[in-house]
Amino acid sequence: ATPSEGYDVVVVGGGPGGYVAAIKAAQLGLKTACVEKRGSLGGTCLNVGCIPSKAMLNNSHLYHQAQHDFKKRGIDVPEVNLNLPNMLKAKDDAVSGLTKGIEFLFKQNKVDYIKGSASFLSSTRLSVDLLDGGKTEVEAKNVVIATGSEVAPFPGGAIEIDEQQIVSSTGALDLQKVPEKMVVIGGGIIGLEMGSVWSRLGAEVTVVEFLGSIGGVGIDDEVSKQFQRLLAKQGLKFKLNTKVLSAEKRDGKVFLKAEAAKGGKEETLEADVVLVSVGRRPYTTGLNLEAAGVELDNRGRIIIDDQFTTSVKNIKCIGDVTFGPMLAHKAEEEGIAAVEFIKHGHGHVNYGAIPSVVYTHPEVAWVGQTEQDLKAAGVKYNIGKFSYSANSRAKTNLDSDGFVKFLTEQETDKILGVHIIGPNAGEQIAEGVLAMEYGASSEDVARTCHAHPTLSEAFKEAAMAAHSKPIHM
Ligand code: FAD
Ligand code: NAI
Repeated sequence: ATPSEGYDVVVVGGGPGGYVAAIKAAQLGLKTACVEKRGSLGGTCLNVGCIPSKAMLNNSHLYHQAQHDFKKRGIDVPEVNLNLPNMLKAKDDAVSGLTKGIEFLFKQNKVDYIKGSASFLSSTRLSVDLLDGGKTEVEAKNVVIATGSEVAPFPGGAIEIDEQQIVSSTGALDLQKVPEKMVVIGGGIIGLEMGSVWSRLGAEVTVVEFLGSIGGVGIDDEVSKQFQRLLAKQGLKFKLNTKVLSAEKRDGKVFLKAEAAKGGKEETLEADVVLVSVGRRPYTTGLNLEAAGVELDNRGRIIIDDQFTTSVKNIKCIGDVTFGPMLAHKAEEEGIAAVEFIKHGHGHVNYGAIPSVVYTHPEVAWVGQTEQDLKAAGVKYNIGKFSYSANSRAKTNLDSDGFVKFLTEQETDKILGVHIIGPNAGEQIAEGVLAMEYGASSEDVARTCHAHPTLSEAFKEAAMAAHSKPIHM
């Protein structure tokens, strides 16, 4: 098809929400185009988010292990050196391989990929400023907005990001030199992941967090405390209940003024590089939503109903630019469901069973409600906990920090939340998600055979602990 012929579905944005929606729409037999202005597919996640950060996390972990951990495993390496340009190249290779992979999937599924920036002319017509010059227009029976999010600036504009000395996650993924001192503003997921990377590579990292705990929204308080202890053991420093007021660049350094969150004495923090990671905000710049009549809420999010429909009937919206957690897999689920609504009139996302993972070491992962949520709601619950220090595989691997924690409804034993801090938590949480998706009880999990010796036995034993007793603790 050529763009001017008209489409059943035009998806604006080629991130995890948009590209998945486009492929699904084409698979369902709808004539589909996806407009992306970045020059490559995959959105924030593949280009400057999930994928490059995981490349740096994995390789910096291996470097750190080689330096500090190999000896006790009986591996004597005469000298371990960091080759940062090569580590950055490995990251860039992972990104380019995967973004090209999506382009291939578009071809295979017959999705038209329009490279340019889309803007509404009406609810069914978009103008596209093409990347290689010129303009085109596309007619669409249905539009799916999936324009994602951007870095939230520091409140009040007090600190300006230059992506060299004062960086967002994007600059932090591409530092050409390991900073001696790094200050991270915001102890949420980005701050802890990127702080871990540069700490492992040799930086002295201080995390300044406004709240009294780290890990961002949704983390269980008990897990957050253990998480902070383990990261502190690795050398990260924390200044909680502290707010940064301003930054000044002088003599090649950045000087930050900070004070206690509730007010108090000012102090100055010195850094070679500052990472600003205080959240992200929905991105709708240039979309000309007014021309279509699409409405935003007071936080700049596109308003949708429970079928992903915006204030305009034929326009749906998914991912970071609308409500809910800003996660790639959440955007993907919504992409599929939104297109199923277009094609069949029904679709479904279970917001009670969306996992969160922090890819530090150890990893932290959770699904469902936290203990503080349950307390606040007055729900009677049981706790089942099992420590990795009592798990044979974790001990054998010399990697046994952390625990699995089940939260179940006291009366019925139904699983209400699972929280893991420990080796491979990000993979293990999938079992918790599946259990919750099926409405399982902790006894259902406890009576399921788990292979020995695996880390997954800690998961099973935590389930045993929730309704009776574990064997190995
Ligand atoms: P995006 O990925 O932001 O994609 C939107 C796309 O739309 C962009 O490519 C943009 O160029 C394009 N666009 C915008 N406006 C227009 C227009 N007018 N015309 C054409 N194109 C347009 N999430 C996880 O689940 N796991 C992780 O490990 C993880 N790690 C992260 C690490 C970092 C450093 C960051 C910043 C984020 C991370 N995230 C992670 C979050 C994840 O990247 C987002 O939740 C996800 O990318 C959202 O997908 P999306 O499709 O809604 O939007
Ligand atoms: P975040 O919302 O997770 O954390 C921001 C932190 O900064 C919070 O703890 C907040 O209290 C703190 N903060 C806010 N203003 C502050 C200030 N002025 N001074 C000090 N601290 C302040 O946001 P983050 O880490 O920027 O990540 C953005 C989004 O990207 C998240 O919503 C997350 O879902 C997504 N992401 C997901 C990842 C994953 O799934 N592994 C990895 C990285 C990002």
